Amino acid sequence: MAPYTVDVQSSAAERGTGALLQKTKNPTRQDTTDSGYASPPREMGETSNNNLTVKLNDGNEIPQVALGVYKAPNGQETEDAVTAALDAGYRHIDSAARYLNEEACGRALNAWLQKTGTPREEVFITTKLWDADHGYEPTFNALNDSLKKFGLDYFDLYLIHSPSDDEEKRVASWRALEMAQRLGLVRSIGVSNFGKADLEGLLENATVVPAVNQIEVHPFCQRQELVDLCHQNGIMIEAYSPLARGNKLEDERVVAIAEKYGKTPAQVLLNWNAARGNVVLPKSLTAHRIQSNYQSFGFKLSPEDLDAIDALGAENYVTGSLHKTAD
Ligand SMILES: NC(=O)c1ccc[n+]([C@@H]2O[C@H](COP(=O)([O-])OP(=O)(O)OC[C@H]3O[C@@H](n4cnc5c(N)ncnc54)[C@H](OP(=O)(O)O)[C@@H]3O)[C@@H](O)[C@H]2O)c1
Repeated sequence: MAPYTVDVQSSAAERGTGALLQKTKNPTRQDTTDSGYASPPREMGETSNNNLTVKLNDGNEIPQVALGVYKAPNGQETEDAVTAALDAGYRHIDSAARYLNEEACGRALNAWLQKTGTPREEVFITTKLWDADHGYEPTFNALNDSLKKFGLDYFDLYLIHSPSDDEEKRVASWRALEMAQRLGLVRSIGVSNFGKADLEGLLENATVVPAVNQIEVHPFCQRQELVDLCHQNGIMIEAYSPLARGNKLEDERVVAIAEKYGKTPAQVLLNWNAARGNVVLPKSLTAHRIQSNYQSFGFKLSPEDLDAIDALGAENYVTGSLHKTAD
C-alpha cells in the first residue's frame, strides 16, 4: 500500500491514539512487537488530501476513511458510488454479506482496478460474517461465498457482524476467522457490535485479539467505556453511522461550528471522529457527498470546539441499528 499522510489531529494523541499505544493484556496478538497499535499523530496542512492510514494491532495499515455501503442496492447505483469513491481517493470499502451488495461492490472495484492499473493491494476491502452463518464450517462457507461475490481471493478485513447468542458458535466462528487469517484468505480479523461482556468473553477464548470493533460512534453516541476497553486491548474503533445517518446534520450546535470553519456539518462530525483515532465509515450514494465527506480531514478543530462537540455525547443518541448496543 502506498505511503499515506496521517491526518490525526494532535488531540488524537491524548484522546484516542494515545490510548491505543497501551499494551494488550493476554492473549496478546501475533507478530506485533514492532508495530505498536497506531501511527503517531502527525500534522497535516490544509491542502493535504486525506489518504491517511492507521496501524492495526496485527501490523496491517488501514485507511482511516471508508465508503460505507449499508442499504446500497446490488446494482448500478452502488457500482457508481464505489467508483465515485475510488475516483475521489477513498481506498477502503466497508460492505457485509447482509448488505446483499457484495457483487456490485466487487464489480465496481475490479473494473476500477483494471481501468486505472491500480494493484489490488492498494484498496482495503472489508466484509462481514452474517449472524445466520455462525459456527466453524458455516463461517468458512460464508467467507468463500463473499470472496466469490466480490471476485477476490482475499479480504483485508473480515468481521463478525454481531455476537452470536450461542457461546459455542461464537467461539467457533472466531476460530474460523483465526484459521482464515492463517490461510491468507483475510489479512485482518475483527468484530462488530461487540459490547464489553462480548469482548471479554471473546478475549478469554481467543488466540488472536480482534484488530477492530466496529460500533456506532459519533458525537451524539460516544460509548466511551467501550471505546476505552477496546483501546486498552489494542483494538481499533471503526465508527459506523458516523453521520448519525444524517439525522443530526441540522443540529444548530454542529451547524454553528461548521460555519465557523467554512465546512459542512458532515465534515465536522467526521473530523471529530478521526481526531479520536477512529476509522470512519460514512455512507453515501451521492457523488458530491462522497467527495465532500472525503474532504473532512484537512482542518483542525480547536480544543474549545472539540470540547463543545464532546458535550453532545450527553444526548446518547443511537440511530436505531437493529444490532445489540449494550455495552
Ligand atoms: N457493523 C454494523 O452493524 C453497521 C451498522 C450500521 C452501519 N455500518 C457501516 O457504517 C456505514 C455508515 O453508517 P450508516 O450507513 O448507518 O450511516 P451514516 O454514514 O451515518 O449516514 C448515511 C446517511 O447520511 C447521508 N449522507 C451522507 N453524507 C452526507 C452529507 N455529506 N450530507 C448530508 N447527508 C449525507 C446518506 O445519504 P445518501 O446516501 O443519500 O447520500 C445516508 O442517508 C454503513 O454504510 C456500513 O458500512 C455498520
